[in-house]
Amino acid sequence: MTRERCVLAYSGGLDTSVAIRWLIEHLGYEVITITADLGETPDTDSVARRALQTGAVSAHVVDARRIFVTEFCYPTLAAGALYEGVYPLATALARPLIAKLLVDVAREEGAVAVAHGCTGKGNDQVRFDVATGALAPELRVVAPVRDWDMGRPQEIEYAARHGIDVPATVESPYSIDANLWGRSIESGVLEDPWTAPRSDVFVWTTDPSTTDRGGTEVTISFASGIPTELDGEALPPEELVAVLNTRAGAHGVGRIDHVENRLVGIKSREIYEAPAATVLHAAHAALEAVTLTRDVAQFKRAVADEWARLVYDGLWFGALRTALAEFVTATQHHVTGDVRVTLARGAVSIAGRRADRSLYRPELATYDRALDSFDHSAARGFIELFGLPLRTQTSIQGALEDEAPLQVERRALRRDG
Ligand code: ARG
Repeated sequence: MTRERCVLAYSGGLDTSVAIRWLIEHLGYEVITITADLGETPDTDSVARRALQTGAVSAHVVDARRIFVTEFCYPTLAAGALYEGVYPLATALARPLIAKLLVDVAREEGAVAVAHGCTGKGNDQVRFDVATGALAPELRVVAPVRDWDMGRPQEIEYAARHGIDVPATVESPYSIDANLWGRSIESGVLEDPWTAPRSDVFVWTTDPSTTDRGGTEVTISFASGIPTELDGEALPPEELVAVLNTRAGAHGVGRIDHVENRLVGIKSREIYEAPAATVLHAAHAALEAVTLTRDVAQFKRAVADEWARLVYDGLWFGALRTALAEFVTATQHHVTGDVRVTLARGAVSIAGRRADRSLYRPELATYDRALDSFDHSAARGFIELFGLPLRTQTSIQGALEDEAPLQVERRALRRDG
């Protein structure tokens, strides 16, 4: 009898290693694994070999770095989307991509199910399950870690009993997920939101209080809202982000401490390290400031928030996110130019910006009378009409409920005599 097949998203860690055996033993599947490199899985081949040793019949390895950056991170950057205004969504953006990779392999291998190593408490299980359901409703989604009744010690015991080779890494006191767009760290001592993160939380960023005071400057070039060059050098997307992670991280840029509202109703304290994403968002916003009209810029803020919520909630493949993507693309046609940023002591500041299609007009903005082409006399008529409805309303309905003078301390100096 041929066994049914299940494709597991395999990271090589304890959970998914135990999951391989568990899927075979408890659910009778033939297990196929897929390990995706999104920039933080240095040796995918050895991870895949471990999957085979643990019982997988085949182990797929994918270098998904470029597609991750170009199809998931950059559109989100162009949207200006940060969850709750701060989180660049690194983990959340990886989930729909991994789901798509699972579905592709499942179809190719004739599998009936896909599996992931998420727990029953986080957002990621929702993202995987919902994305898979959207792409391939015929596939079952199995979440062993959510279903089995084992804690870490029991998992280690299970691994030992089945001769599962789990990498002998020093056990981290945190739960960590990382890819090119950022590193997410939670649990352990971080669960007390009053406790400052210890230095061992940070791997990509240097303690900002110890970095060079003068900092460094970097110029980022964009074409239609997409980063293309660093300091005038064209780099492949995955490299541009990696280089910027290193450069900005060395100046302590990109640390985020956030108590966020999870989709499953819990507030959770998370630390993020996202040097490149932080710098790129700041630079992109600075370029938009000179290339977007006021109407578009202001409307787009609402789109950014909505985009962030959709990504966070696992609705990447939904109709609204797709429709917003067309809007965002339409706003980016002239977001082409360069931004100079200074990175110092954990902060990114904009030093300069320029764009061929910049809407910033010096001859309109200047306070130098000799260069000024702005018609000052036109302001009078403009204000007359702009203020008309307010004057009408207040003259009939009153401006204030209480017309009494403000209760402030006031003194008048008077000339003698
Ligand atoms: N809270 C973030 C999110 O939901 C990151 C979760 C990643 N997991 C972790 N082990 N830190 O997108």
